[in-house]
Amino acid sequence: MLPCINWLQPFLALLSSTLLTRGHNCPSSCLCPDHHTVDCQGQGLTRLPSPIPLDVRRLLLSDNWIPLIPSDFLVLYSDLVYLDLRNNSLSALEPGTLSTSSRLVYLDLGSNNLTEIQSGTFGETQSLIKLRLGNNPYLSLVEEDAFVGLTSLRELELERNGLQGLDVGALEPLTSLRVLRLEGNPWVCNCHFAKLFVWLTENRHKLPTGMEGLECSLPMDGSLMSLSLLTEASFRECRGYLSLTDILIVIFSGISVSVVAIIASFFLASMVHCFQRLGKAGQTDEEEGND
Ligand SMILES: *[C@@H]1O[C@H](CO)[C@@H](O)[C@H](O)[C@H]1NC(C)=O
Ligand SMILES: *[C@@H]1O[C@H](CO)[C@@H](O)[C@H](O)[C@H]1NC(C)=O
Repeated sequence: MLPCINWLQPFLALLSSTLLTRGHNCPSSCLCPDHHTVDCQGQGLTRLPSPIPLDVRRLLLSDNWIPLIPSDFLVLYSDLVYLDLRNNSLSALEPGTLSTSSRLVYLDLGSNNLTEIQSGTFGETQSLIKLRLGNNPYLSLVEEDAFVGLTSLRELELERNGLQGLDVGALEPLTSLRVLRLEGNPWVCNCHFAKLFVWLTENRHKLPTGMEGLECSLPMDGSLMSLSLLTEASFRECRGYLSLTDILIVIFSGISVSVVAIIASFFLASMVHCFQRLGKAGQTDEEEGND
């Protein structure tokens, strides 16, 4: 019995090591501390390492020079739960890249060079709980439908970007949001900001810095003002601007009334014309009957 085990031991060791390496190719210059983690932080990488095991769940890629994520990346690594790309050189996200993930819970794209977050960037990543997009100094546009589908998102970081304004429609789909970081952006308190201001006032408990920690520049002289010093009345001058819709409704209803009047008179005219013709036809019939 004993010699048999002695003989089997190296064989079993060989077998298990081949199975392990088959299932877990650790990319060179990365560490794989456990079966589902690949850690390549601060390795001077200029592109994604390879080969990354397909069953990776935690992928740590921060402090590198990675400029792009291939659009099929999350199709391939569909078990990814935690993706850290902080402090890389990403300047754009190809549409659809992040929209295919069903398990991703944590995504860090902070300290990159992103310029905009387009509609539908995250598709229906319903599992996502924390999204970090701060410290992208050129990030100046978040489209209205950028965060559609992120129904589980609890924390959204957009601090220290280049945002002068933000469409409230981008925040409205985030029904689970608890924490929103917006400080350190060059907000401008013009009339476009009025709606965001109302939203922030109602959701101030979600701002870690409160309204005090947010500043905006006034359109008149560019002076900086803490949001906590402003009230909805500060945007009173925007009433004229906001009632633009009212003006449009008035103009539009005016147009509709005219259109209805034109159609009605056309209809009446046709009726009259029709009756006249009927009358004439009746007369001819009578004349023919007389003959
Ligand atoms: C960002 O990554 C670079 C390259 O690894 C590193 O030198 C730098 O210290 C990192 N910056 C921060 C803020 O961690
Ligand atoms: C970041 O983007 C800006 C504007 O798009 C560009 O001028 C700058 O060179 C970029 N920086 C890096 C490090 O890629």
